[in-house]
Amino acid sequence: MKDGKYIALVTGATGGLGTDMCKKLADDGYFVIANYRTDNKAEEWSAKMKAEGYSFAMAKADVSEYPQVVSMVEQIEKDHGVIDILVNNAGITRDGAFRKMSYENWDIVIRTNLYSSFNCSRAVINQMIDQQYGRIINISSVNGQRAQFGQGNYSAAKAGMHGLTKTLAIEVANKGITVNTISPGYIGTDMVMAVPQEYRDKIVANIPVGRLGGTYEVAHLVSFLASKEAAFITGANYAINGGQHVY
Ligand code: CAA
Repeated sequence: MKDGKYIALVTGATGGLGTDMCKKLADDGYFVIANYRTDNKAEEWSAKMKAEGYSFAMAKADVSEYPQVVSMVEQIEKDHGVIDILVNNAGITRDGAFRKMSYENWDIVIRTNLYSSFNCSRAVINQMIDQQYGRIINISSVNGQRAQFGQGNYSAAKAGMHGLTKTLAIEVANKGITVNTISPGYIGTDMVMAVPQEYRDKIVANIPVGRLGGTYEVAHLVSFLASKEAAFITGANYAINGGQHVY
């Protein structure tokens, strides 16, 4: 256990879910490092966060690229110390019916959404083992748990994330490290708002709670799983989807 603040790295921090995760973890007393890929967007985001009273450390890497992730994690360790909490949140969509899906759209989604979980978890796991403490939280999706027309690439990546969660969880369970998945449903992010309205309206009509989820609602669950008190929860997959998919 550390005396100072726990260090949390959130990947894809500048997106809708990532932003609220960073804020919630900072509010809860963590030292938060925001991973980003694009300089301009990150600068704008960082300035906006500062205006709201949040000052996050920033760490650049394309998380689909293992060498970039390794360099980023080494730099974080030099500057701040060992990462205690890793939130694998970065993700993209390239939706399209499978019969028309290009190899490029398959490849980039698998690399960005699934390889990223390997890359970041692999880069931090041995330091977590050395300190006998860690929390890894993989942000999957309801569409990794069920089918969604047009998301063959995304569903495969998100289902794969939980496969990794389960095995890694049992491999490090006796080392003070928990590994869990969160599977959000349709949350009010730019990613979901990019779904053409005719499709989105049909989807929302099938959410029993009757609305899209809030980013703060997912952030709250991240913070819960990141806590010391969540030590007995590992290998789990938390659905947060307004009842859209119950099983
Ligand atoms: N179910 C069944 N059939 C469908 C369908 C659906 N949901 N969507 C389209 N089709 C059918 C059409 O009726 C049409 O049939 P015909 O060929 O017989 O006429 C055919 O498929 C159209 O095929 P196209 O490839 O031309 O499809 P399209 O361009 O009209 O739309 C799509 C395809 C873009 C994938 C569209 O279905 C779509 O946007 N769906 C929503 C995808 C979605 O939910 N993405 C989630 C993004 S947010 C996210 O991912 C966050 C998270 O974790 C939840």
